[in-house]
Amino acid sequence: MFPSKVPRVVLLTGLVLLFLVIGTNYYLYDDDPFRPPPNSLQQQPSSPKPPAPVVPPVAGSKNEASADAGQKPPAASENEALPPPPPPPPPAAKPSGQPGAEEHKTAATPAPPAESPKFDHGDEHPPPPPNNCPTELDFLGKTGKELKLSSHVKYSRRCITPVFSADVNRNEVVNISTPLTGEGETTIDMKNCAANKLPQCIPIKLDVPKPYPKEKFNNMIFGISTGYDRLNDASSVDTFAHWMADTDAQLIALVTDMPERTAAELKALNKRFADAHINATLVRALDDSFTTSQSHFTVLVHMLNHSTPETQWYGLLDDDTFFPNLKPLSDALAKFDHQKDYYIGTLSEDFAAVRNFGYMAFGGAGAYLSSALAQKLGDNALKCIEEATAPEGDIIIRDCVYRHSKAKLTILDELWQQDLMGDPSGFFESGVRPINLHHWKSWFHLRPEKMSLASNLCGDCFLQRWRFGTDEVLSNGYSIAKYRDGLEELDLNFMEKTASNLNNGFDFSIGPFRPVIHPDAKKSFLFEDASIDDKGVLRQLYVWRGNAEIGEMDEVVELVWKK
Ligand SMILES: *[C@@H]1O[C@H](CO)[C@@H](O)[C@H](O)[C@H]1NC(C)=O
Ligand SMILES: *[C@@H]1O[C@H](CO)[C@@H](O)[C@H](O)[C@H]1NC(C)=O
Ligand SMILES: *[C@@H]1O[C@H](CO)[C@@H](O)[C@H](O)[C@H]1NC(C)=O
Repeated sequence: MFPSKVPRVVLLTGLVLLFLVIGTNYYLYDDDPFRPPPNSLQQQPSSPKPPAPVVPPVAGSKNEASADAGQKPPAASENEALPPPPPPPPPAAKPSGQPGAEEHKTAATPAPPAESPKFDHGDEHPPPPPNNCPTELDFLGKTGKELKLSSHVKYSRRCITPVFSADVNRNEVVNISTPLTGEGETTIDMKNCAANKLPQCIPIKLDVPKPYPKEKFNNMIFGISTGYDRLNDASSVDTFAHWMADTDAQLIALVTDMPERTAAELKALNKRFADAHINATLVRALDDSFTTSQSHFTVLVHMLNHSTPETQWYGLLDDDTFFPNLKPLSDALAKFDHQKDYYIGTLSEDFAAVRNFGYMAFGGAGAYLSSALAQKLGDNALKCIEEATAPEGDIIIRDCVYRHSKAKLTILDELWQQDLMGDPSGFFESGVRPINLHHWKSWFHLRPEKMSLASNLCGDCFLQRWRFGTDEVLSNGYSIAKYRDGLEELDLNFMEKTASNLNNGFDFSIGPFRPVIHPDAKKSFLFEDASIDDKGVLRQLYVWRGNAEIGEMDEVVELVWKK
């Protein structure tokens, strides 16, 4: 409620005038009280498009095949039946706990007071815009609507000051006494912004690695082979943009169904990449009869054609291979001489997959060829297609390497095929420092370009962990987990066994594991969205989904990272 001493008539007059001034610019009775007026500070680069719905691949379609170089089912199931991808996270939609709130709202929204109300900002900010929403709540309001949060949410926020240091031990889990949840919590009415009192932003200092230096990566060229629709979906372009935009790294995207696409469609896709500042070239299969997997390898011929004298490394990727940032990959590859033959990648984490498919660079983690080796394979590309011992793209690459060079696989430990099914929490909460991620839009459903926005601010701090209070662990960009039984017994050196397909075939790669903690004993606020504004302020929302059927509100923790 606003402490307003202004008489009602004055308020009404003020309101009318306000309408006349700005009413032409935006809908007065928009049902989104958070909608900021045109001149307010926006967190997001103005992109009005809704978030890409994450579409599970359609079984048997060409699109699905393109997801994986291997086109292989997880090794556990050795017959053809590809287990259906796990369902997307529980749908956010739930009945509003406040029936009638909407009709009620337009009439009841308090008129803008003559003076800015005294919100407890906790830090200095411009006065709230005339729709009475504190600008600090813009991101929650905008995103809360997209995420379909409950009509009221329990909300707390923390203002994190990153303290940059070259000496941060990224593997250490530092203890911070202030808890992230509970303290300073307030209830936010998502339908009536004006009723909201902003909680204090409790300050916390965290030691983090330095941001990655701004570097160009014109020594790297990447190739993928996939269908038009998969390449054209918003999440695809956004994710490529996260790691490629303005880096001078090149992407050669072989569009498997190019002959069936109109010139206008291809032009539109080209424009999307160009608008996202991605140096992408769309190419057609070397032979229209090639399968997606064969093209996964032969895209190398196009890459060689588009290479420059600076090109040192050729990365053959799945279309859902993602890099939080290119710097760690570039640093890792720089240890090898690109003028010698190098075949670099990693195995599946699942030994059964290694046994079935072989000792090779698994497609989702990428196969990285030195320029010397890439040239040899390119010269023999068509022969290698004939010689291949299996149809999978990564196997064609491996066979070609082994037949036409003396190179053997060099393993980079921090690459991941991510052959983990079901709940990936254990992986993301393990303190891992992945060079790449994979399977984020099939086996599980995540927005890696949002999760890893932290890496734009503090480099290697993505997935860095801290203990907070007596019972919480933040895995930066993935979750805040609150453990009912505290942290004493929790061995954070081991990965929690949440994935559904783990067996002793994973011991050689990611074991040993610690047992799964029952949801009753572990309350997980999962990362759902983030934005970074032009001043470099990063906002992350971690959400625990309440059970609407028993009247529970969703709970949100907003971390505001501000230098
Ligand atoms: C893409 O990269 C190539 C090779 O570095 C360069 O020649 C070309 O100009 C770049 N294209 C754009 C649009 O920047
Ligand atoms: C590669 O470049 C050569 C020479 O410009 C050209 O003849 C050939 O068709 C190109 N191949 C591809 C796959 O683009
Ligand atoms: C941090 O907290 C954990 C769990 O409570 C404890 O075991 C550990 O000793 C603490 N570390 C320091 C440096 O206080």
